[in-house]
Amino acid sequence: MKTTISIIKADVGSLVGHHVVPEQLVELGEKSLREAQDKGLINSYHVFNAGDDLELLMVHQKGEKNKGIHRLAWNTFQKAAAKAKQLKLYGAGQDLLKTAFSGNVRGMGPGVAEMEIEERGSDPFIVFAADKTAAGAFNYPMVRIFADPFTTAGLVIDPSMLGGFKFEVLDTKNNMKVVLRCPEEMYELIGLLGTTTRYNVSRIWRSKDNLLCTVTSTTKLSLIAGKYVGKDDPVAIVRAQHGLPAIGEILVPFLHTYFVEGWMRGSHWGPLMPVSLKNSKCTVFDGPPRIVALGFQVCNGKIAADESAIPMIKDMFDDPAFDLARQEAVEMASMFRRMGEFQPARVGEEAMEYTTLPRILEKLKGRFEPA
Ligand code: F6R
Ligand code: MG
Ligand code: MG
Repeated sequence: MKTTISIIKADVGSLVGHHVVPEQLVELGEKSLREAQDKGLINSYHVFNAGDDLELLMVHQKGEKNKGIHRLAWNTFQKAAAKAKQLKLYGAGQDLLKTAFSGNVRGMGPGVAEMEIEERGSDPFIVFAADKTAAGAFNYPMVRIFADPFTTAGLVIDPSMLGGFKFEVLDTKNNMKVVLRCPEEMYELIGLLGTTTRYNVSRIWRSKDNLLCTVTSTTKLSLIAGKYVGKDDPVAIVRAQHGLPAIGEILVPFLHTYFVEGWMRGSHWGPLMPVSLKNSKCTVFDGPPRIVALGFQVCNGKIAADESAIPMIKDMFDDPAFDLARQEAVEMASMFRRMGEFQPARVGEEAMEYTTLPRILEKLKGRFEPA
């Protein structure tokens, strides 16, 4: 029997402004998933938040894109959004773009990453969830983890990884995808993924046996709604160890900060800050963009649990080893904020989610003259 790991997330309302999901909504999510577990739809779950996003991690045996699982997530978000509206929380229901459930939450607002696997003898995973950024935030670390021998020693010294990895790259502008092999096509891969605002890594397999080892969410809310409706704060599932990058290799790119698009009004470059769950909340300039990492193992169709059947989830960035990245992120944040609305602090015109530029140009229309 195969096991499926699904993470489905949405911003259904937050407190204060776009800061954090209030505890009441997390509890509501837990209640909804507990009931689904009692009914046997899912085998285990963990509800958490990445800043203002409510994250539903579910392990089950229903496969990817399962209607029942997606309906469960959709109904859970609906209930949380109703509570958020009642409390007049900020942006209540903001990511629920459609009214009627159509069988799959993809295309309806929430972000989704799902991975169906044949369980190995022991199967460790990390789920990443980021706030105030977009799917392109995973391009850089995934290249580092699965293609850079200076990050992942296993690429050089573990015979199982010598054949490298295959990356599925999505062109979000034309809604096309292409698979590139690494190391053979590394320069082409970096050529595409370097354009983080357009190309996103969506899946990664080990080349020698097509073992699926990474899935990310790659939704573009603005393409669904036809207008700005918030950034697509992304999630990713990464499989580790025994012929795949080790947990410790997967965490190496987060020793330092790096720049991602998002932050205030989805229109600025900002340093990504790896944080523990207790600091999974955005503050200065609605950020800096943050990422959490939850480690767990799957065991017979469930998240491996303790004696009280509580899933054992480890907060991987809750460690002084990431203090340097956090310190760098604060320094870079303050440097960029000194620049205000001057590039490169602000993203290019085409990637801005809020803009008054058309209005400015309209106002000055008659005053431009040949130079
Ligand atoms: C970014 C984000 C926030 C808001 C900002 C303005 O993804 O959600 O930075 O864009 O707080 O929000 P409004 O326009 O609702 O006041
Ligand atoms: Mg929000
Ligand atoms: Mg968010």
